[in-house]
Amino acid sequence: MIKREKGKMIQPRKAIQKMKPYNPPTASRKGKLRVDFNENTVGPSPQVLALLKKLNEEDLVVYPEYGMLREKLAEYLGVAKNQVIATNGTDEAILTVMSSFIEKDDVVVLPVPTFAMFKFYASIFEAKIMDILYKNDLSFPTKAVLNAINKKTKLVVLVNPNNPTASSISDEDIKKILLKARENSALVLIDEAYYQFMGRSSIELISDYDNLIILQTFSKAFGLAGLRLGYVISNEEVVKTLSKVLSPYSVNSIAVTCGIMALDDVAYVDEYVKEVLKSKEILYREFEKLDIKTYKSDANFFVAYFGDKATAIYQKLKDRNILVRDRTTYPLLKDCLRIGVGTRKQTRFFLYEVKEVLAEVGWKQ
Ligand SMILES: Cc1ncc(COP(=O)(O)O)c(C=O)c1O
Repeated sequence: MIKREKGKMIQPRKAIQKMKPYNPPTASRKGKLRVDFNENTVGPSPQVLALLKKLNEEDLVVYPEYGMLREKLAEYLGVAKNQVIATNGTDEAILTVMSSFIEKDDVVVLPVPTFAMFKFYASIFEAKIMDILYKNDLSFPTKAVLNAINKKTKLVVLVNPNNPTASSISDEDIKKILLKARENSALVLIDEAYYQFMGRSSIELISDYDNLIILQTFSKAFGLAGLRLGYVISNEEVVKTLSKVLSPYSVNSIAVTCGIMALDDVAYVDEYVKEVLKSKEILYREFEKLDIKTYKSDANFFVAYFGDKATAIYQKLKDRNILVRDRTTYPLLKDCLRIGVGTRKQTRFFLYEVKEVLAEVGWKQ
């Protein structure tokens, strides 16, 4: 038995002691209108669901193999097989990039507010995180990011389109950042979790910029968040490095099988994306009529400003089984909620309920 001073627990590393736990509100979300986590609001391709029903004992008893998934991904993305690698969600991809490249005190340039896991994982490896604030209109702070990159920078994180602001970065600005980062021997990590809704990706830049790493996921447009399947696209060298660090079996067999099937039915995702974009137009039009300020969105969610009524509206929607995300404590997002976009049918229901709630809180109209 390990002996220790009475009452004194063995302490984790100091970097971990300083971290606050991250507890996203994932409890009791089933059966509700979930427009809070930016997932697909109706589910994956029916072909994936049909496949799941046909799984047998061999699908469980054997360790997973990744060759076919990698081939399918490469084909889907238009890259070589050795330029892509699957991960246990984007989360594991972020963790693996950080653990492969970040040494203590390396500077990570991080435009904020953004997806929380970048800061968490960078903190584990004791990076110095340099927050760069988005602009007041939530557009991307190109100049400030360019100015922040110098010889001490190891990694620049870009989320395109960004969560929670829903704003995007132009191809031209991405190239400028890649160049400046490369001059300073820094990597650029672009998280494209929502790229389908924006309609463009930076994948074709992989061959021109050896400092570029791109992350995508099956969790959002593909509707497979529960399976935890993401992937990294980069040059062969980077992918080789990441594969050294990744567990050899981090992605489970069911995720592999379903991922392959989802890639066989990309048309399903394309249709869903079209539906969401039509819904978003309706929401923006109706919110304007209701005098609710919205910010530009290139994603399947958007930020809306509700003033001092934001938290009450969030709670009242929740009481009606409609889940949106309270982002009122985030920088630049005081009094704002982040609202996901689903199908037009869901949107009509959502708008009906929103109007009821607005009447209850005495909205200014
Ligand atoms: C920008 C961004 N990246 C990654 C993720 C998580 O993706 P995954 O489910 O693949 O870990 C999210 C989820 O909210 C996100 O918003």
